[in-house]
Amino acid sequence: MANVAFHSGEHVPLEMHKVRIVQKLTLLPVEDRLDRITAAGNNTFLLNNADVFLDMLTDSGVNAMSDRQQAAMMIADDAYAGSATYTRMEAVLRDLFGMDYFLPAHQGRACENILSQVLVSDGDVVPMNYHFTTTKAHIVLNGGRIEELFTDAGLQVSSTEPFKGNMDVRRLEDLVGHVGAARIPFVRMEAGTNLIGGQPFSLANLREVRAVCDRHGLMLVLDASLLADNLHFIKVREQACADMSIREITRALSDLCDVIYFSARKLGCARGGGMLLRERGLYDRLRGMIPLYEGFLTYGGMSVREMEAITVGLEETMDEDMISQGPQFIEYMVNELDRRGVPVITPAGGLGCHVDAMRFLDHVPQEEYPAGALAAAAYLAGGIRGMERGTMSEQREPDGSERLAEMELLRLAMPRRVFTLSQVQYAVDRISWLYENRRLVGGLRFEEEPEVLRFFYGRLVPQGGWQDELVAAFRRDFGDSL
Ligand code: F0G
Repeated sequence: MANVAFHSGEHVPLEMHKVRIVQKLTLLPVEDRLDRITAAGNNTFLLNNADVFLDMLTDSGVNAMSDRQQAAMMIADDAYAGSATYTRMEAVLRDLFGMDYFLPAHQGRACENILSQVLVSDGDVVPMNYHFTTTKAHIVLNGGRIEELFTDAGLQVSSTEPFKGNMDVRRLEDLVGHVGAARIPFVRMEAGTNLIGGQPFSLANLREVRAVCDRHGLMLVLDASLLADNLHFIKVREQACADMSIREITRALSDLCDVIYFSARKLGCARGGGMLLRERGLYDRLRGMIPLYEGFLTYGGMSVREMEAITVGLEETMDEDMISQGPQFIEYMVNELDRRGVPVITPAGGLGCHVDAMRFLDHVPQEEYPAGALAAAAYLAGGIRGMERGTMSEQREPDGSERLAEMELLRLAMPRRVFTLSQVQYAVDRISWLYENRRLVGGLRFEEEPEVLRFFYGRLVPQGGWQDELVAAFRRDFGDSL
């Protein structure tokens, strides 16, 4: 977003685009919202989107496309093999990232499946700045384990540290000394570190990580799914990069990596994914898996239309006006909530606004899923659908006991260029109201609990009648407003 000052002195994130296609939304009355969340087992994944006013579940595959992306989709070349669409996509990827080899996949986790199957063996350890759910699952499935080497600031909810996604390279050195380089198939850095609040790492930090990798002959893998946000933060928060273009920063990052993979549901604002590789040898080892799991080498499970949209989307990611929209809207939301005393992760990151449910609902024990309860309450308060990122998203220990999460977060994702500022203001208003009424919110307990990925399908019930009380309080305070 360009730097446009308001004469009033107000700090307003100004959209550098206009909206030409819209989708009608419905906001149900609060009583109906109670019916719907009850029918959904108090799990926001099980709500019908038609019953949701602001869908802040994720930014995955739901960012707005540009007119140029839509137009490109019309000229896609449908061919099983050797499609011109693929050639265009590969050329842009090579140009932006400077790597010779590309393998397409249907989405980010498919890349993780293939990389883990080929690279991870029993007893291996994969160091990373922080895990993502699907990443960890694939590494563990192949007999490995992960080590999260975040810095002291990484998990601090309130902080002024600009790069909470940095890796502690001293811990990386210690780990290599401890387990030995032979047991480490690769080091993984995640851009815009998802599960700690969309927090970036710095270019300087990636250089330090690379230096450790060089000393020990380790491969460096970048998960670039949330790269767009991270590029923006490097540009505005890292002094040494202030004069670099987004394109230059992209190349500086990729020059440090051996492998880059991404979910194009996030990077490129479409749906799909892929892996960029520097070495022919590794390319040859991974290539055989693409026809096995994804599709032929020139589509990898993606539709040609999506591939055209990704190609344009990647080019547009080099535009500061485009990539700053999300972070600036998120910053606005985080600062407005913070000003009202609502506990949120600071500094604002990418991806979305992360509410600290541990402090918001400090009277709800972790065994009663405060972040899950807050997600249900946010739907009741405003028809807002967020995502639980806490204990519900963990898996029980083998003995059946709860593995309590390090953080209890309600993630309110900000799909890029999708919501207007008044909708964000509405979300701030309803979440602030909920905070004032937080003592009315109680916990949840599982009624149906799947063994794996329970947060997707599990059904829960409220502990006591708190939801009826919350609805009554809403009616008292808002009269006949929706
Ligand atoms: N890596 C990161 C950092 C991600 O955020 C995601 C997905 C993936 C890998 C997997 O990619 O969904 O295309 O298979 N994150 C989504 C989210 C699901 O809602 O944050 P995928």
